[in-house]
Parts: sequence; structure tokens; C-alpha cells
Amino acid sequence: MGAEPCFQEAFSISGGDFTNAGEVSSRVKKILQELGVDNKIIRRVTIATYEAEMNVVWYARKGTLTLSVTPDLLRISVQDEGEGIADIELAMREGYSTASPEIREMGFGAGMGLPNIKKNSDEFHVSSVVGQGTNLDIVIRRQ
Ligand SMILES: Nc1ncnc2c1ncn2[C@@H]1O[C@H](COP(=O)(O)OP(=O)(O)OP(=O)(O)O)[C@@H](O)[C@H]1O
Ligand SMILES: [Mg+2]
Repeated sequence: MGAEPCFQEAFSISGGDFTNAGEVSSRVKKILQELGVDNKIIRRVTIATYEAEMNVVWYARKGTLTLSVTPDLLRISVQDEGEGIADIELAMREGYSTASPEIREMGFGAGMGLPNIKKNSDEFHVSSVVGQGTNLDIVIRRQ
């Protein structure tokens, strides 16, 4: 029980496309509301999904975010094709950011995205291959 997804959907994210940025996390939020997921859980998932989505927009060429829902948990996996992260421990540090002046002008680049994903997750794994891309695996338990 609980291992089989009762809902799964994959969403594409385009790197550099900040006009549509945030759309995937809005759709994920709506789906979870329709599935009757607890609001507190939705809030955590939405924060994690939004931060992961924005990182693909800013730092990768393209990516896919997959939402899986089981009776016990929500899993968000994000796979992108891009520059990758050379030092994951450093990237996970609060305040660390390589955001360009353009990104900062739009109000991003505080270096809080990955730490916020971790804070809102029950399990969080990052793996990356420099020059290829980054994978995030986020698990949030429903109770
Ligand atoms: N998908 C990714 N591909 C390549 N590099 C990434 C990716 N996600 C994060 N990084 C790197 O890790 C750094 C820290 O990411 P994090 O999301 O914590 O902060 P930020 O995006 O710089 O700022 P904020 O999320 O607060 O707007 C980024 O500046 C970037 O160098
Ligand atoms: Mg970020």
C-alpha cells in the first residue's frame, strides 16, 4: 500500500522562459487541491516546486518536473539538462547564489531556493553532472 502512484503527471519547463515561470507550480497546486490534499501539505509542495522550477528557468536549458501522488506521500522529481552543479554542498548553503545581475534585478538570487526546498521536504536528494544537468528528488509525506 502506498507505493503505487494514484496520480502522476510530467510537466516541461523551458530554461530562460521567465514569462511562463511559475506556471508548473501553479498547476501542481491546482491538481493537489482537486485531489483534496491537505492545505498545509500543498503549501510545502508549492514552495518546493516553485523553487525547483525557477532554478530550471534560471540555470538550465530545459527540464521535466514529475509529480507523483500516492495515498502516503507526494514525490516531485525534477530532471534538467544544463550546466549542472559542481559543488552541491556549497549550492545548498543559505545565501549562496551565482545569479546574474539580470536575475537579481527580477528579485531572485537570494540563495534561498535549495535551502527552502530542503526545509519543506521530508526527504531531499540532489545529484548533478557538470555539463549535463541536475536531478532533484523531493518527498513530502502526507501525514
Ligand atoms: N538546476 C540547477 N542547475 C544548475 N545550477 C543550479 C541549479 N539549481 C541551483 N543551481 C545553483 O545553485 C545556486 C543556489 O541555488 P538556490 O536556488 O539556493 O539560490 P538562487 O537560485 O541563486 O537564489 P533564489 O532561489 O533565492 O532566488 C544557484 O545560484 C546556482 O548556482
Ligand atoms: Mg533558486
